Amino acid sequence: MSVSSATQPMIYNPPKDFAKQAHVPSLEAYETEWRRSINDPEGYWGEVAAESHFFKKWDRVLEWNPPMAKWFAGGQTNVCYNCLDFQIEKGLGDHPAIIWEGEPAAADGTPKQQVTLSYRQLHARVCRFANALKKLGIKKNDRVTIYLPMVPELTIAMLACARIGAPHSVIFGGFSAQAIADRLTDADSHHIITSDGGWRRGSVVPLKSNVDEACKLVDKVSKVIVLKHCNNDVHWDAGRDIWWSDAIDGMSEDCAAEKLDAEHMLFLLYTSGSTGKPKGILHTTAGYMVYTRHSAKQVFDYKPDDVYWCTADIGWITGHSYIVYGPLQNGVTSVMYEGAPNFPDWERFWQICERYGVTKFYTAPTAIRAFMKQGAELPKKHDLSSLKLLGTVGEPINPAAWAWYNEHIGGNRCPIIDTWWQTETGGVMITPLPGATPTKPGSATRPFFGIDAAVVDHSGTPVEPNESGLLVIRKPWPGMLRGVYGDEARYRKQYWSEIEGCYFTGDSARCDEDGYFWIIGRVDDVIKVSGHRLGTAEIESALVSHPKVAEAAVIGFPDEMTGEAIAAFVTVKSGVNVSEDLKQELRQHVSRTLGAIAKPKDVRFTDGLPKTRSGKIMRRLLRELATTGSVKGDITTLEDLTTIAKLNGEAS
Ligand code: PRX
Repeated sequence: MSVSSATQPMIYNPPKDFAKQAHVPSLEAYETEWRRSINDPEGYWGEVAAESHFFKKWDRVLEWNPPMAKWFAGGQTNVCYNCLDFQIEKGLGDHPAIIWEGEPAAADGTPKQQVTLSYRQLHARVCRFANALKKLGIKKNDRVTIYLPMVPELTIAMLACARIGAPHSVIFGGFSAQAIADRLTDADSHHIITSDGGWRRGSVVPLKSNVDEACKLVDKVSKVIVLKHCNNDVHWDAGRDIWWSDAIDGMSEDCAAEKLDAEHMLFLLYTSGSTGKPKGILHTTAGYMVYTRHSAKQVFDYKPDDVYWCTADIGWITGHSYIVYGPLQNGVTSVMYEGAPNFPDWERFWQICERYGVTKFYTAPTAIRAFMKQGAELPKKHDLSSLKLLGTVGEPINPAAWAWYNEHIGGNRCPIIDTWWQTETGGVMITPLPGATPTKPGSATRPFFGIDAAVVDHSGTPVEPNESGLLVIRKPWPGMLRGVYGDEARYRKQYWSEIEGCYFTGDSARCDEDGYFWIIGRVDDVIKVSGHRLGTAEIESALVSHPKVAEAAVIGFPDEMTGEAIAAFVTVKSGVNVSEDLKQELRQHVSRTLGAIAKPKDVRFTDGLPKTRSGKIMRRLLRELATTGSVKGDITTLEDLTTIAKLNGEAS
């Protein structure tokens, strides 16, 4: 990879050999295409969509009544058909669609379970399961909750839902009963697909028993389909529960894909925002389908023989868009791994890359930092020469991690794409194109085709180059969310009212003199722990549900390994004695209620929380305290000055 050192910071040009074979082979090609996509979005997206399969062509590419968008209205299509049938029609029936590896392994990392499914085999399994869903009474528009480990059946379940027009709501396997119950209630979902358990670092995560707990908290679940995966004991409710194997028994491998309207709801994916209730981000059929196919092809520069591995969990948007829908619509092979990166040891990821000849690898900065800590000797033991491209997502990547990734994983020959996007955006929004965009470590670089990104002040005016401001998107795009499920007011307020006429991302950023975007971080109460998105309010409400807690405030503070970590400031009820044991009990309580990822790293007891005169907790001050050890910032709006004096005293 050539390096230009004339400018600061370092600029890495796309490797020449890569550029030669790339879909977008030069910066000029990118700029010409981007300008066209912005000047004539309907023409551009109409052309792009023509490469997808539609049962009926759309009448209009875009109907835009801000902030309500309809893409490809009047058209009829099916995303599952595009992922499977359409690929088989193109001659890819025998091509591997999924290569899956389970976590259990011998001491040398040799896996005990591996599955490869060709497009044809995947199609057969999806159809069988889709027929099973129908037989169980699941109909078009019914929301189906999926709470599974990273197994092929997770992809099968999602595609089966998409095939029959039943929107899926996938819940990350790391969430606990309360989080499941909240999502079931909000989605008004009556059906759950789960498994007895999932493997994580050699132990079984009891998914079915979490579902049983959640079902006690809500009274609406009529069917639970249970995949046998770990063979752990499960409680059984004969009227409600059915084994996956029994459900598909005798089902046909033929199931016609429903002809769905372009704006038919494809899925809900819950994510954290700045209020307590998780939001059901709503994505629909045609726009999401076209956007994920096109972005995956350009961003990962897919070629027919690619063996592509995205290490995310399908429970997050990255997995939805770039393990399932994006790669399968492009006919490439998508690798899926069930377990932890360090099981049985820190070589597992590199063994997987070597074993399957992974060509394109997409992971999170937090994982790179963890590997970096283990040293470069581990990847060196493995043949990583098949790799052609590396990607990152989820949080800013620090230049040291970028340099390590480039040298020790990419062998200084692979372009690195730092992709910025969100659950709400459906697909990648700001990203280098690997054959075209010179990269600067730490910058997600330039907007994708059709994306009109800008950094503005509160009045919507673009700020000067290198000045920080709010990151907005000024035009609709096909992959955009269509709403917050059941809460139009929240959709309008959260995303479309902050900056007039723009989609507000919730991130701050700066744009340099070359038009490169540098993401700074969230400006709301969202915390990113290891790239996972958590809301302060959700964690706070878990804390105050503990009988000894009177009040709690949660903040994110910088952490070398996880990007951000959670600190909780807790006021206990009168008469309660604070102790180290209580701290541990509260950490466990959050973990049990929401899931281990939400467990605070630090719990501090305090007599009072700093509030404004209108009663709003001043998290800014707590953040300063957790980061620097004391509060020196502006406290003019503070209601009770003594709280800060006390917090400063307590901190010291
Ligand atoms: O703050 C940004 C950060 O992740 C947020 C979106 O989180 P989520 O919806 O969970 O989706 C993550 C995976 C797509 C953003 O608002 N973020 C995402 N990618 C990057 C990033 N921050 C910096 N650089 C990135 N490449």
